[in-house]
Amino acid sequence: MTVTQRLGDAPDKDLLDPTERMSVDELRALQLERLQWTLRHAYENVPHYRRRFDEHGVHPDDCRELADLAKFPTTTKADLRDNYPFGLFAVPREQVRRVHASSGTTGKPTVVGYTEHDIDVWATVVARSIRAAGGRPGHRVHNAYGYGLFTGGLGAHYGIEKLGATAIPVSGGMTPRQVQLIQDFEPEVIMLTPSYMLTILDEFARQGIEPTSTSLRVGIFGAEPWTEQMRSEIEERMDMHAVDIYGLSEVMGPGVAQECVETKDGLHVWEDHFYPEVIDPVDATVLPDGEEGELCFTSLTKEALPIIRYRTRDLTRLQPGTARPSMRRIQKITGRSDDMIILRGVNLFPTQIEEIVLRTQGFSPHFQLELTTEGRMDALTVRVEARADTPADRRQAAGRELVTAIKETVGVSVVCDVVDPDTLERSVGKLQRLLDRREKR
Ligand code: DLL
Repeated sequence: MTVTQRLGDAPDKDLLDPTERMSVDELRALQLERLQWTLRHAYENVPHYRRRFDEHGVHPDDCRELADLAKFPTTTKADLRDNYPFGLFAVPREQVRRVHASSGTTGKPTVVGYTEHDIDVWATVVARSIRAAGGRPGHRVHNAYGYGLFTGGLGAHYGIEKLGATAIPVSGGMTPRQVQLIQDFEPEVIMLTPSYMLTILDEFARQGIEPTSTSLRVGIFGAEPWTEQMRSEIEERMDMHAVDIYGLSEVMGPGVAQECVETKDGLHVWEDHFYPEVIDPVDATVLPDGEEGELCFTSLTKEALPIIRYRTRDLTRLQPGTARPSMRRIQKITGRSDDMIILRGVNLFPTQIEEIVLRTQGFSPHFQLELTTEGRMDALTVRVEARADTPADRRQAAGRELVTAIKETVGVSVVCDVVDPDTLERSVGKLQRLLDRREKR
């Protein structure tokens, strides 16, 4: 294989990891063996899991087939917080080579740890993800995920190196420099949040550089929800592929699931390391494949922080594999249960608004949602930037169209505030779309 293989092609079969080529039966057998090991490892080494299993009246020996996992208790973010910082580690602290932590908007962050073997597995699944996205050994990969306690920067970095590509560890921020380095180092691949890509695109415009002229051929976007409309926006403005990478710190970091560039039809879960279930968000029963619910993961090979049935709060459905036939796909994540806005009894996700904003002629992809209290009712304002070339009368019409489209598709009335280009705050990492300014009752 050489770097001349066209981006957008499926990788040659011999480039795939052996587990990517397994039959479903082989994969299920491997999963069961690894699951039984994980349950025992957690039970024997983590007092929290031993207590929870005992309370539930289950023992690792009760897991004789994969479906038996449903008998075991789920784990939530609160369990990690209650055991802050290192209480869920299953190996002596000296064997933990690295920790990461999620910022946590309230109170303590959640801390996760990795042994040397865990870091190697993580690098392997990220390398596999970059390859599925179209990256190849020898490529230059501009990595603008934040380096530090966030898993994005270092997680992507080790995967880039493992693939045999060249890591350009830029991290987030200093946007003018991002543009300069893309121009000078000529990367084929870029990794960052989709919202930060939009910020960099604005900077290209500010510097008078045509973004389609760069060397970039693939963008690997994740860490926040984004829509098909956003994919088209980025692909057209950059003339490159935009593919989705998913992951979360508690389960590993980036590289838990990845979209393949040749199909762009949802994300293949790397099921040899992470066992997915979709559960009913209310009563936690396991739902059949194809039904929408809350995604839940059990690690299959993690040593430092085995995680059993972790409730991600991410909403999606499981579908059969396509580009990697034995690995199931998750549908693009439309939102997290905690991002759901309940507006006068109607449930709505920011991604639904993103779809409509991007469909409305004259609007840029930059928008913010503001919740306020009007009298005794909640009100939602969609504040959206017009594109630079949108005339005033079109702005007005676009605002009216947006309000009507939201009413028709979501079923709720909102206010649209059209603002000038370059007025809303830009993201350098994970974007915070929602401002909650409601009066506390
Ligand atoms: O965001 C890990 C990551 C880094 C993934 C870089 C991809 C790229 P956390 O900070 O723990 O980890 O946040 C995890 O982010 O539960 C989802 O709600 C959201 N998320 C991550 N990837 C996607 C995606 C990293 N592709 C949380 N689509 C997850 C939608 C995503 N949401």
